[in-house]
Amino acid sequence: MAEVRPRVVINASSGMADWAVTAEGPVRLAMTAAKSGSRLVHVSSDAVFSGTRVHYDESCLPDPITPYGAAKAAAETGILLVQPDAVVARTSLIIGDGRSVHERTVHELATGARAGALFTDDVRCPVHVTDLATALIELASGESNGIHHLGGSDALSRHELGILIARRDGLDGSRLPAGLRADSTLPGPLDVRLDSRATQRRLRTTLRGGHQFLMPTA
Ligand SMILES: NC(=O)c1ccc[n+]([C@@H]2O[C@H](COP(=O)([O-])OP(=O)(O)OC[C@H]3O[C@@H](n4cnc5c(N)ncnc54)[C@H](OP(=O)(O)O)[C@@H]3O)[C@@H](O)[C@H]2O)c1
Repeated sequence: MAEVRPRVVINASSGMADWAVTAEGPVRLAMTAAKSGSRLVHVSSDAVFSGTRVHYDESCLPDPITPYGAAKAAAETGILLVQPDAVVARTSLIIGDGRSVHERTVHELATGARAGALFTDDVRCPVHVTDLATALIELASGESNGIHHLGGSDALSRHELGILIARRDGLDGSRLPAGLRADSTLPGPLDVRLDSRATQRRLRTTLRGGHQFLMPTA
């Protein structure tokens, strides 16, 4: 950082629940970015929320219930204290053109390559990676600061998302097993919907909903 003195740093790293990587690392980066005069855009997560209130806009304070969510929330807080000009951009499930972990899981379930279920009560606002990347670059090039939400415009359960991915990829969505997260022992929030409308109003980039970006192309 001292040598290159980048104009902008976009931090899309994650060490999951590893506190040193996910909480402390981004704060150290913010301190370094402040020294080199670099603008910092930090990618955060809807995991900072518990799901208790379901709908979360940019003004909502974090109330994490997992170690990963707590680490992401700690990073947000530290970054904005040491670099108030930084952008913190919370996002949700990142979907691409087949390569995300979420799409791979759907493929494996639909083809019987793995066992498991897609939850019908676990709701998020998935975003397409191209929309997310374009919005991050737009924020990096702009002058706004503080908390931003970059979720897609549709709230979808993991199972609904799976059906859309299967349809786009020519797989049989009826083969996707459904289940309830509430019945599982998996810790974490159920229904977290990032309300990104305030951020969207300030962006040229459209944050499409899953129904749109997962439309079959052929
Ligand atoms: N994927 C999602 O659905 C989702 C949802 C909400 C928010 N997010 C957030 O979006 C961002 C991108 O997510 P992702 O799924 O692309 O993450 P990812 O695939 O897990 O990638 C994490 C990146 O962090 C890097 N990294 C890990 N430990 C590091 C360390 N100690 N120092 C420097 N870099 C380190 C990894 O580098 P190497 O490849 O070299 O190991 C990797 O490039 C993250 O901030 C994540 O919290 C993701």
